[in-house]
Amino acid sequence: MDRTELDRPSLVETGFRRLTYPHQEFLFVAEVTRMLVEKGIVKNAVSLEELHKHIPPKDQVVNAHYMNNVVDQFYETSTRFRELYFGLIKYIHREYFQYDFIFQAIPNFRFHFPVHFGEAFRNKRNKDGVFLGQHSDTMLGHSFEEVNFWLPLTECRASNALHMSDLASGIQVIGRVFDDIGWDSDVYHTAGREHFHKRLFSDDDFQSLVVRSTKPVDMKVGEFIAFDPRCLHGPAENTEGRTRVSLDFRIIPLHRYEHAKHYRSQGKSKRKFVRGDVFFQVSASELE
Ligand SMILES: [Fe+2]
Repeated sequence: MDRTELDRPSLVETGFRRLTYPHQEFLFVAEVTRMLVEKGIVKNAVSLEELHKHIPPKDQVVNAHYMNNVVDQFYETSTRFRELYFGLIKYIHREYFQYDFIFQAIPNFRFHFPVHFGEAFRNKRNKDGVFLGQHSDTMLGHSFEEVNFWLPLTECRASNALHMSDLASGIQVIGRVFDDIGWDSDVYHTAGREHFHKRLFSDDDFQSLVVRSTKPVDMKVGEFIAFDPRCLHGPAENTEGRTRVSLDFRIIPLHRYEHAKHYRSQGKSKRKFVRGDVFFQVSASELE
């Protein structure tokens, strides 16, 4: 990686797109509500925004990997969910993206309950006690060839929305992390987040750049966003009193796959970001 490469044009226009899909046709909310009952997480169907009222507090708290006991039960989805998701991928390909792409085989579920982040996050708060969850997935092992997608299944705003930066600020922050590690891509992709945190919690100007540039993206059901992986993003502590449920997934344009296929997760899974592992074997156009 060098400065020119980091500055290259985005695969997503200006780095960020707010898009829509027909949510009366793609009934994700109904299916996730049904799955919560089927998995025994709630007894009867309840509104997703109200989910926290029906789940023991201990199951709502996230661990250091942002997982909680509800998310843990959503690695297994359902045939119906998979049909909806593949349908959405086809829709995205048809309506919005000129190029063919591979896509994450199963999206990540987030159940972001209105509870405080606990002990696991005490090192991720600034002097005022504010939790700072900003990151780029590239600091966690992902390549720069991916496009991130984020799709809410509840209305979200302020502290339960995703917080995001513009592309220019993201590039500035990532460039600073690269400066710290002598532009070594291996160090960046294996330990980028640690280096980012080191600077974030020791350099007030850097921290203020990160905090100032990441703002909540208020969204409704039926909307989703696509963004460049260089845009910083992350959750805040949810103080809205309402649960936020969302899906996130990544795609890789086929014309960038050769550059993308050497990467693997730095999380506990160590899975590879390749076809047939994290990404589905078949491309979006081959689903048709
Ligand atoms: Fe992320």
